[in-house]
Amino acid sequence: MEWKITKEPLESLATDAIIVFHSQGGESVQGYARKVDKALDYRISSLISEGEITGELGEITILHNWGKIPSGRVIISGLGKEDRADLGRLKHAVAVAARKAQKLGLKQLGLGCPSFLIERYNSVDVVQAIVEGVELGTYQHQSYKSEQKKKEIETVWLFVESISESAVQAGIERGQVFARATNFARFLVHEPGNYLTPEKLAFHAKRIAEKRELSIDILTKEQLVEQGMHALLAVSGGSANPPRMIVLSYQGAPESREILGLVGKGVTFDSGGLQIKPSSSMNGMKGDMAGAAAVLGAMDAIGKLKPHCNVLAVIPACENMTGDHAYRPGDVIRTYSGKTIEVHHTDAEGRIVLADAIAYAKRLGATKLVDVATLTGAVIVALGYEASGLMTNHEAWGNEVKTAARIVGERVWELPMFDEYEEYVKSEIADVKNDAGAPAGSIQGGMFLKHFAGDTPWVHLDIAGTAESKKEHGIHLKGATGAMVRTLVQLAIRFA
Ligand code: BES
Ligand code: MN
Ligand code: ZN
Repeated sequence: MEWKITKEPLESLATDAIIVFHSQGGESVQGYARKVDKALDYRISSLISEGEITGELGEITILHNWGKIPSGRVIISGLGKEDRADLGRLKHAVAVAARKAQKLGLKQLGLGCPSFLIERYNSVDVVQAIVEGVELGTYQHQSYKSEQKKKEIETVWLFVESISESAVQAGIERGQVFARATNFARFLVHEPGNYLTPEKLAFHAKRIAEKRELSIDILTKEQLVEQGMHALLAVSGGSANPPRMIVLSYQGAPESREILGLVGKGVTFDSGGLQIKPSSSMNGMKGDMAGAAAVLGAMDAIGKLKPHCNVLAVIPACENMTGDHAYRPGDVIRTYSGKTIEVHHTDAEGRIVLADAIAYAKRLGATKLVDVATLTGAVIVALGYEASGLMTNHEAWGNEVKTAARIVGERVWELPMFDEYEEYVKSEIADVKNDAGAPAGSIQGGMFLKHFAGDTPWVHLDIAGTAESKKEHGIHLKGATGAMVRTLVQLAIRFA
């Protein structure tokens, strides 16, 4: 998809469709839409006064040009209540309109920025939101059908009047980088488990490292043994596909010793292990590497945007299967950190592989940590599909992650880490137990990981409920969402 800037007013531009916005409770037709309305003999405003166009968020109305303007159609997209309009709702409205155009098979689109949002927000951010809206909203998952019928929008014309060309360029570039990194994560999560093995995930990491000139180290099974990463080795024991520990590093501030460590759960398929999942819960478990996908997507964007900071990515990649060498309930694992884990449930494997990854990130110098993981079904019980669970051992660092998430429009919600929960991960024979059958399952996962983060400021993001969407909604299509990619990128920018 190509973005072009135009000074040509949209009512005289020849495209397949132009998109205008309408909000509830504001002026009837605003900004550039007014001229489009006039060129169409006020058809838009009459539909508004007749109540057919309400401006509700997500509402789409299509008018044909009737020979009045060069563009084939006008798509009017609802922005919701004007006083509640923000960049998140703008992305939503843009995504819905662009997706509609895509489904109609249109190739060329024209749109502009709603003027009242330009007044309210930084213009680079408004342009970024529009670009993200189109590129996230029109993403299509890879199809494995023998006959492909992808509909792609080829060119988007962005009409700008009151913004400097350099601001528009900057907004386009940022929007593209954020959206494409997110779409890359979506691609990885959507890949079937038989295609995306741990080795294949490492291959994708290598491709990113080459493209962005990042350093990369991929530990093979033999090296894991040498290093004593028995947590990752234990979980991968039952699988024919060998594990990998993937390490990427971006050095944007060599003079600084501050390193942002991003750790992503990379379980490419989770059968539950010997304590196998019931069949229906196992469906979808190819997506149990969404945390890894978020970290890889973020590294792609960070490598492109080059913020003045250092970022380290550590991804434990493996399958959780039931083969002869599968780990057993009751096993005790000596982890890379030296701490021991009593296995109480083989399906609580994510925290086990993260234990080695977090310890390794610390060993490699990470001074601040964020882990992203599809860790617990319990987070869906707590927060549904609307927010990722956030847990931290450091209030200020937690706030920093919350701020980054708020800026990019991703929802996180904090769950407490009270000392009393410590009991949930106590073991009689080892340092920690991976499951105690206690309530507050997501917090239990967080309390477990906290042991391995130690004194390093750390945030845990449980994305089991947000990594995939049940339905098409705003910037999301059904399936993988690319959750937390944009938050991590924003966090790195702020870390600089
Ligand atoms: N990968 C799952 C969590 C999950 C559930 C991700 C639903 C996406 C959607 C994780 O490894 C798991 O199985 N967790 C168990 C933990 C339990 C055994 C303590 C769970 O949530 O049931
Ligand atoms: Mn599991
Ligand atoms: Zn899992």
